[in-house]
Amino acid sequence: MYPTIPFDRHRRLRRTPALRSMVRETHLHVEDFIYPVFVVEGEGVKNPIASMPGIFQFSLDELKKEIDEVVSLGIKSVIFFGIPDVKDAVGSQAYCSTGIVQRAISQSKEQYPDLVAVADTCLCEYTDHGHCGVLEDGYVNNDESLVLLAKTAVSQAKAGADIIAPSNMMDGFVATIRQALDEAGFENIPVMSYAVKYASAFYGPFREAAQSAPGQGDRKAYQMDPANRLEAFREAESDTMEGADFLIIKPALSYLDIIRDIRNNYHQPIVAYNVSGEYAMVKAAAINGWVDEKKIVMEKLISMKRAGADMIMTYHAKDAAKWLLEEG
Ligand code: PBG
Ligand code: ZN
Repeated sequence: MYPTIPFDRHRRLRRTPALRSMVRETHLHVEDFIYPVFVVEGEGVKNPIASMPGIFQFSLDELKKEIDEVVSLGIKSVIFFGIPDVKDAVGSQAYCSTGIVQRAISQSKEQYPDLVAVADTCLCEYTDHGHCGVLEDGYVNNDESLVLLAKTAVSQAKAGADIIAPSNMMDGFVATIRQALDEAGFENIPVMSYAVKYASAFYGPFREAAQSAPGQGDRKAYQMDPANRLEAFREAESDTMEGADFLIIKPALSYLDIIRDIRNNYHQPIVAYNVSGEYAMVKAAAINGWVDEKKIVMEKLISMKRAGADMIMTYHAKDAAKWLLEEG
């Protein structure tokens, strides 16, 4: 006696849209998004980033309108990147109380006190050599960089940042920043650590947007080798021991396995950074009419949630928020 074939009828649960929505395992919400914003000095500036259609550098007056739009779409959180007018070897503008990011954060918090302002804490946008720390004979000096990163974090908290997100990949950066924040009275400000950050070609367009490409060399002596998985556990482990409140994995799309690994082994909220190159590739194909932008973007974003991310930093946030609203 042979059993009837097929044994299982999986398609029973796929028959209608209502059934499919009932058995859907993963959902995307506007609360999941953190929207990256680039701010520059000047007035009336809204510079398009060629490799990131739809993304601009904003002066503070233009930023106001952008933040209005972000909030009207229901997005709860923005991460700020600053591009200063003057850069130097030690990235002074990163920790200046009147720096561009500090003013952007204060202004946005004044405009919308409930908007969660995340500050990216790094030096590469502020150093004339474009590295994420200070150089000594062409090598980024870890411990000297930590001192400046801690100063940067405290100045961002003073400006009103709700979350400090250090992206510099120096060893000990979470502990150093945590201690500095506590000493300055910011014990309630969480650290969202770029715990697992690969040395990735997918950051190319961001470096145009933030004018932060390293003048010489690359970031391989501090960011991770894309070939490594166990190293991600070591990075997450030390940041957890040092008190990281959130763990970021970056980039997202080529690293969904790492997101799953970290989700399964750590218990902080997990953030996937859907980086600039991932955005640029979809945009380029969509503009050419080669892919359906909405469907591709929503599939990418849901795959990051399915991999285990709780939140997604994404340049698609405004579009995705609109699409979610349309769908009700
Ligand atoms: C700065 C920083 C980078 C990104 C976020 N913070 C660039 C880099 O490390 O070169 C990349 C974001 C993106 O590509 O969207 N350390
Ligand atoms: Zn950097």
